[in-house]
Amino acid sequence: MELRKINMQDAHAQWEYTTALPADENGLTNPYTGISYEDYIEKALPALISYEHPVDMPDWFVPETYYYLWDEDCLVGEFRIRHHLTETLKNGAGHIGYSIRKDKRGKGYGTAGLKLTIQIAKDIVPEEEIYLRVNKDNIPSQKVMLNNGAYIAREDEEHYFLRVKK
Ligand SMILES: CC(C)(COP(=O)(O)OP(=O)(O)OC[C@H]1O[C@@H](n2cnc3c(N)ncnc32)[C@H](O)[C@@H]1OP(=O)(O)O)[C@@H](O)C(=O)NCCC(=O)NCCS
Repeated sequence: MELRKINMQDAHAQWEYTTALPADENGLTNPYTGISYEDYIEKALPALISYEHPVDMPDWFVPETYYYLWDEDCLVGEFRIRHHLTETLKNGAGHIGYSIRKDKRGKGYGTAGLKLTIQIAKDIVPEEEIYLRVNKDNIPSQKVMLNNGAYIAREDEEHYFLRVKK
């Protein structure tokens, strides 16, 4: 199993994943649901790749790198790392967002993928801890986080805010 950074060579598998990903699933958002392969290649993919080194983006935009989890030749999930926190991210989505293909859930991929993502994030983020957020009703994702050594730092009505020490 490996995490591969978003790239042009894997475009078709990345597109299949992205176009099937819901617009909002448990707070994980995707503006490209249903996108055609042509639009993905011409617009979405160059934009998503550029987010690692943003050009002409508003001041609030934090660099973000997309990774895909591969098991042999099957793309099974997506993991996004935001490189540092702003006040909004600190009190919101945190450093990492992820999802696993619907037909591959419950097989340990979420837990394994977050482990690999945290290893990369530890070298990128300047903060002492990796920040994560999860909806209170999203038990699988809470387990994925707890399986990776996260602790619950605080909560509000709808979410738990977890952190992993570096
Ligand atoms: C959350 C998500 C990434 C979990 O991925 P996954 O590959 O199924 O995770 P795992 O297989 O590692 O399972 C983690 C735990 O959740 C449990 N689990 C998985 N699916 C479950 C389900 N539908 N119902 C109950 N428990 C479930 C597993 O049994 C496992 O439990 P364990 O730690 O006690 O063994 C996946 O469900 C998903 O993509 N959800 C939609 C997007 C999302 O919610 N992203 C996270 C936003 S914070």
